Amino acid sequence: MRAIVRGIPSSYEKGLAKYFGTGPTDIEDARSQHKSYVAKLREFGVTVKEIEPHDSYPDCCFVEDHAVVAGDSALITNVGHDSRLGEKAAVQGALKEDLNLVLMESEARMDGGDVLQFGKQFLVGNSTRTNEAGIQCLKDFVEARGFTMQVIQVPSNSLHLISICTSPIPGVLLAPEGWLAQSDFPSDAEILWIPDKEAYAANVLSFGKDVMVAAGYPHTSRLLEERGLTLHSMEMSQFRAADGSLTCLSVLYQ
Ligand code: GLY
Repeated sequence: MRAIVRGIPSSYEKGLAKYFGTGPTDIEDARSQHKSYVAKLREFGVTVKEIEPHDSYPDCCFVEDHAVVAGDSALITNVGHDSRLGEKAAVQGALKEDLNLVLMESEARMDGGDVLQFGKQFLVGNSTRTNEAGIQCLKDFVEARGFTMQVIQVPSNSLHLISICTSPIPGVLLAPEGWLAQSDFPSDAEILWIPDKEAYAANVLSFGKDVMVAAGYPHTSRLLEERGLTLHSMEMSQFRAADGSLTCLSVLYQ
């Protein structure tokens, strides 16, 4: 497994924040949390490529939004917020050495944080950051590679689909009660429902039985441990403050 990550710029406190967060408060703390995240990826055997941060882009550590990987290819997106469009070049430059890249048309907008691979299916959030043209581009991209796609409406209190839904175990989705409904998901998916007040904990990052989880969400942790998973608790306060989660900090690929 390989990953692209990008460090924390000096401008990070200006990062967009409207949903889980009210803005980052401590850049050194953010850098320390980021360092722990990268170290944990390496502990799992991931080969990590680090891109230098750029102060013109306060949100540039959230690299996931710029690429959707399917097999040996990546769809390079046009992220939904104009202030972040310039982050793309560095991510694209780093990925082009390793993957076949497909570029979105200019009118299409999508944050990678709206896309979750779930077995042979891609779930995509219809959100304020992802438009119909973006969804059509993704559909063409994944169907050409033998996958199917299902659209899920993202509730207005969530930035992205993956902010509130990830897959800790093949065939299983984790989601907060009251934000999404059983009928939103593929009919064959098992849904592990977590309490509304732990919604942030729905974003986990799995490496087989080893799962990175945000620290401080005991009910969710208990639920995952009961499924036989080994949890790796990560301090995420400075990322939550900018509406970012575990998956947002990397682009992962084989
Ligand atoms: N702060 C991450 C984003 O809003 O895109």
